[in-house]
Amino acid sequence: MLGKRIWEKHACINCHTIMGEGAYFAPELANVTTRWGVEDDPEGAYEALDNWMKSQPSGVEGRRQMPRFNLTEEETRGLSDFLLWVDSIDAQGWPPNDAG
Ligand code: HEC
Repeated sequence: MLGKRIWEKHACINCHTIMGEGAYFAPELANVTTRWGVEDDPEGAYEALDNWMKSQPSGVEGRRQMPRFNLTEEETRGLSDFLLWVDSIDAQGWPPNDAG
């Protein structure tokens, strides 16, 4: 799956978790499409992720920063499909709250 390869290649996991697997520097992403209200909307999920990726680093003082990844549209679509897919897995209540 393209999105999973990009996830691994760009080491998103060095900062993020998916269902608790990974590092705890940045938000859990297994439920990010729900958090963004786009879990049933692949095009919306792509646009939200694309906007997010292009607005990093935020430069907001006191906030943890995410680096800029210059992904192609295809790569970003792959990632948003991947995030939709992980969000659709029944994680039996994980993460324990919406904020991840
Ligand atoms: C160096 C650490 C780091 C890496 C590597 C990283 N991120 Fe992040 N990411 C962050 C931080 C910190 C935030 C939270 C920033 C904020 O809230 O302002 C974040 C937030 C996000 C969010 C928004 C989460 C939300 O709940 O709104 C998404 C989506 C995301 N990252 C995707 C990715 C993807 C995809 C990759 C790999 C291509 C990646 N990140 C790699 C640090 C990182």
